[in-house]
Amino acid sequence: MPTYITTPIYYVNALPHLGHAYTTIVADAYSRFRRLCGDDVRFQTGTDEHGEKIAEAAAKAGESPRDYVDRIAVAFRETWPLLAVEPDTIIRTTDGEHIRTVQAILQQVYDRGDIYFSEYSGLYCKGCERFLTEKELVDGKCPDHLVEPKPITEQNYFFRMSAYQEWLIDHIKANPDFITPERYRNEVLSFLSEPLEDLCISRPTSRLTWGIPLPFDEGFVTYVWFDALINYLSGIGYPDSPDFEKYWPTAEHVIAKDILKPHAIYWPTMLRAMGVAPYERLHVHGYWNVDATKMSKSLGNVVRPRELVETYGVDTVRYFVLREMSFGLDSSFSGEAVLARHNADLANDLGNLFSRSLTMIAKYAAGRVPERDSGSALTPDDRELMSALSAMVIQYRECMDEFRFHKALQAVWEVIGLLNRYIVTNAPWELAKHARQTDRLRTVLYFLAEALWKMTLVLGPIMPATAEKMAAALGMADRFAHAVLDDALEWGTIPAETALGTVGPLFPRLEKKGEAKAAPAEPAKANANTNRGAVADEGLIGFDQFKAVELRVAEVVAAERVAKSERLLKLTVRAPEERTIVAGIAQHYTPETLIGLKVLIVANLKPTKLMGIASHGMVLAAKEQTADGGERLVLATVAGPVAIGSRVA
Ligand code: MSP
Repeated sequence: MPTYITTPIYYVNALPHLGHAYTTIVADAYSRFRRLCGDDVRFQTGTDEHGEKIAEAAAKAGESPRDYVDRIAVAFRETWPLLAVEPDTIIRTTDGEHIRTVQAILQQVYDRGDIYFSEYSGLYCKGCERFLTEKELVDGKCPDHLVEPKPITEQNYFFRMSAYQEWLIDHIKANPDFITPERYRNEVLSFLSEPLEDLCISRPTSRLTWGIPLPFDEGFVTYVWFDALINYLSGIGYPDSPDFEKYWPTAEHVIAKDILKPHAIYWPTMLRAMGVAPYERLHVHGYWNVDATKMSKSLGNVVRPRELVETYGVDTVRYFVLREMSFGLDSSFSGEAVLARHNADLANDLGNLFSRSLTMIAKYAAGRVPERDSGSALTPDDRELMSALSAMVIQYRECMDEFRFHKALQAVWEVIGLLNRYIVTNAPWELAKHARQTDRLRTVLYFLAEALWKMTLVLGPIMPATAEKMAAALGMADRFAHAVLDDALEWGTIPAETALGTVGPLFPRLEKKGEAKAAPAEPAKANANTNRGAVADEGLIGFDQFKAVELRVAEVVAAERVAKSERLLKLTVRAPEERTIVAGIAQHYTPETLIGLKVLIVANLKPTKLMGIASHGMVLAAKEQTADGGERLVLATVAGPVAIGSRVA
């Protein structure tokens, strides 16, 4: 199946920001998703380079319009690889091919009698590059640009848009998916309940020369919206190219609510006048605000894609915007929100699940995906996991198809939670201790590998680089390159004996330090040393710093004195994996009294060697000053029954 997906073509009067990045990431994630479904995808973005706004911006910059648009178009083009966005076409409205197509269409519609010459008076908003109706104004001003539109009386050419009003209403009503989400469909229908005016599609060259000349009157250039919308056709070679035949019937446009009217009203009526079928679907999203305020240059809060990626990493940025915004509604961006999602969803939930599972396969199955034990029956846990995985893939597919990205990701993260629980309940480290449980151990490890492979497939469109890393670590890099989503619906797709590759941490924790910065290879960055600095500053630490310390409930299963040390005990604890911790409590506890005790540990401390023994963590204890100037240590424990390995927060 072909798929044609587009973003708006962006005005080159401003540099790319979070808003442009979001729409383009959405279109990229969707095109990767469709490719994963086996579709032949054409993904197009581009720049809108004509019109008054651009001519003015060029003059302000002291450049010719041509030099100016060339410069800014490059800034857009260079942004996409930073965001792992891979369009097939990047169109510019100053391309010769596009200009020829616009002129041919104007001539055709003119010849059919749908363009006429007349005088018009109206209220023009330069920011919107269109005439506004009285009804659209708020306190006499354009609600988007907060300026009073200028009254203009001019002789111009008009497109007979009103002639297609009834047809458009019928089309929208007959095709519930034509404009989604529904609130925007309703908005358009409500607008169409009033008579539609014809569309002014020219500007006299006395006022503006930076535009495409009308083919039938040299004294005029084309109105920028009539020019811009046609990019969706010229980019695929309308009218003669086989690409047009192939892709146009599947066209899907992604836009924000600011340009709903041109896309939902001008564009379908223009297509109708040309005798071209309307696009298939229009997906309309809301606006990103920053810290709950409108993003604007004058407020100085414009978020730039390059800075975002440098601070948080490209996959975190992609995940964040897709997970955080409910498609269709406005959303607020903040650095804290990105950090919180990075540390909780990515570093903790996904990252830990992945590294912990692979470590166990390395340790208990010599780094190869084991053969599932087919001799014994599946447990209820296994069945629950299998059906949750299939349900997740189906829900993911539905949600991605409907542009409900946050829901698709919610479904994936529910299964990540389930997998983390599956590990705790099946405790592979326990199974590994008993020879007669090796069959069960193999099955559990096999299920983990299979589940992680399915995760890799569904995460590909959202976080391409992470999914690639995951595939390589699972020994499935080759398969990943040609995988399809249907693979994730089958069971047993990761072959037994597959040799795992190596994996570093997928998402090193990030901490906030004025500017957030990566803490590579040192997940426990916010431990004593770093905190001390922060405490000295203000006496307080941020929640993220606290969250970076992974506290867990651990059960002591063995304890012994460390030879030649008065102070140290060697403890074996389960949290829930087994680990050794060397604790300086020998003067306060005898080894026997500790067995079975549930203590609190810092689980993500960098390993260290004490008296030649590697210690993986730290046991927490209260330190009391005694009357004789000494110290008494009392181990911290939990007040009631709780599963070992539980996180303390
Ligand atoms: N050139 C026209 C579009 C012509 S399409 C045939 C235009 N350009 S624009 O540069 O102003 O881009 C508008 C689009 O940028 C929005 O529809 C949306 O896709 C994106 N965004 C710009 N600011 C945004 C936010 N603050 N939030 C989310 N997206 C926003 O209009």
